[in-house]
Amino acid sequence: MQVENKKEFQPKIVAFCCNWCSYAGADLAGSSRLAYPADVKIIRVPCSCRVNPMFILRAFQRGADGVIMCGCHPGDCHYTTGNYYARRRMTLLFSMLDYLGVEHGRTRVEWVSAAEGVKFSTVMNEFVEKIYSLGENVRLEDLRCKES
Ligand code: FES
Repeated sequence: MQVENKKEFQPKIVAFCCNWCSYAGADLAGSSRLAYPADVKIIRVPCSCRVNPMFILRAFQRGADGVIMCGCHPGDCHYTTGNYYARRRMTLLFSMLDYLGVEHGRTRVEWVSAAEGVKFSTVMNEFVEKIYSLGENVRLEDLRCKES
């Protein structure tokens, strides 16, 4: 049953990655030939604090099934405290998503350094597996954005 679901359902997963650590981690994963699913679409941002909560809501509205935000480890942000701001914002947003009925598992924040290609690959594989288990996201979907 699980395998059949995987064939039918192709999740759309958006990963916001900060330029200085997480994107470099993704790059390292790629150059080390560590596999992670092609369902993950990476959006490179200068810092995790550049991710406005509206970006995440908009991604869900446009049909994303899961959104993950990756940044530098706390204390390692290129802009000193950007990831602390991002962490606070995401905590608030995720509690609001709970209120809206969007499952908690559809969002995630993860700190990945430039040297953690293995972690990047592992996190993405876990996250995609979680989204497969949750199925398609329809809660915030704007039907005007749906391809038919
Ligand atoms: Fe990576 Fe700020 S530069 S989180």
